[in-house]
Amino acid sequence: MKKMKGGASLNYSSFAAQFKMMFQTPESNRITKEFGSAEILNDRTPLRTYAEKKGLYIGTIADTGLKNPDLTKVVPSEFNSITAGNAFKWGNMSKNQRFDEYEFEESDRIAGFAKKNDVRLRGHVLLWGRTPGGGYPLALDTLIEKSKTPKEDLLSIMKSHIHTVVKRYDDTIKNWDVVNEPYEVFGSNLAPYTFQEVLGKDYIKKAFYYAKEASTYQKLILNEQFFYYQDKRALAFLDLVEEMVGEGVPIDGIGLQHHVMFNEQSSDDLKRFIERINRLGLTYEITELDVRQKVFKRSKNMALAQAQSYYTIARTCIESGGCEGITLWGVGDGVNWYDHMAPFNSKMFQPNKPLLFNEQMNKKPAYYGLREALKL
Ligand code: GLA
Repeated sequence: MKKMKGGASLNYSSFAAQFKMMFQTPESNRITKEFGSAEILNDRTPLRTYAEKKGLYIGTIADTGLKNPDLTKVVPSEFNSITAGNAFKWGNMSKNQRFDEYEFEESDRIAGFAKKNDVRLRGHVLLWGRTPGGGYPLALDTLIEKSKTPKEDLLSIMKSHIHTVVKRYDDTIKNWDVVNEPYEVFGSNLAPYTFQEVLGKDYIKKAFYYAKEASTYQKLILNEQFFYYQDKRALAFLDLVEEMVGEGVPIDGIGLQHHVMFNEQSSDDLKRFIERINRLGLTYEITELDVRQKVFKRSKNMALAQAQSYYTIARTCIESGGCEGITLWGVGDGVNWYDHMAPFNSKMFQPNKPLLFNEQMNKKPAYYGLREALKL
């Protein structure tokens, strides 16, 4: 087992299957536009202008964890929304890894930045079991191990955390990822986090009820990453969402992370997935978009293929109806999470270069690909 993405464990037999997919031909081999043409380059209109005409949020991460110096160059000029990459995660907010004491310095600073620049701040995230220490404080595991009444204790700690944070930012944050990545990375079961082991899938439902109690008005979102949108895993996710809606759990929408790591997701599959979300009366948005350049290693021009991919993803999101926004997981290629995370930090997986701006913060074809999609 090896650690990947946010500390998740990687199972090598599943990984081999994913690896094989890297050799499939990506959709973006069919490049429909030359995303570097003079006409496109001469248009200086920022992303947010086109997004706002469509009533969409276009966002990026304000990642203090990565100490991104490029942020103020593009927020608020290009982007009208930000997400804190790490600062609102429970473990990162906690004082000395305790579950009942906080340090709000970083999260307050980001909330202040959003207010000052009049951009939306997405709340990310109230509960994330995958990364003990970051996603939630280590003291929680210790207490639950020793507890004689683990269910009651965990529910009361979850409630207190969710109430504390939602209430503190109630005037700034109107949109919370309540639970992040409830499913195993590969496989259609809920991931065996502490929350799940003690409470089963009720932990997800309870989290939404607690968030609802604490907020005056918040949009409450379930956020997940998908490699495919029509496999067993995606369908299990949708079944759970349908069950929640049927039971009256206060869920408003779905966050699709959409990290394109190994291969492109089929846009037809994505459309069908979104149709089901729409039928349930929920909204959705793409919450963590990035597209690794290496995915297009068989294309003649990886940068253009990447641009085409950004275009296709954004068009699918927009055309499927109900899309509220698209958030990029970073700004310039110089600071991106793949370069620091196995296996993507190895030579074999590079170049990652997953974002819209290059290391020097110049616009890449990917930028124009996304902008063309917003413009149409
Ligand atoms: C997941 C999480 C994000 C972030 C990324 C990797 O997608 O939701 O908060 O940790 O992994 O950086």
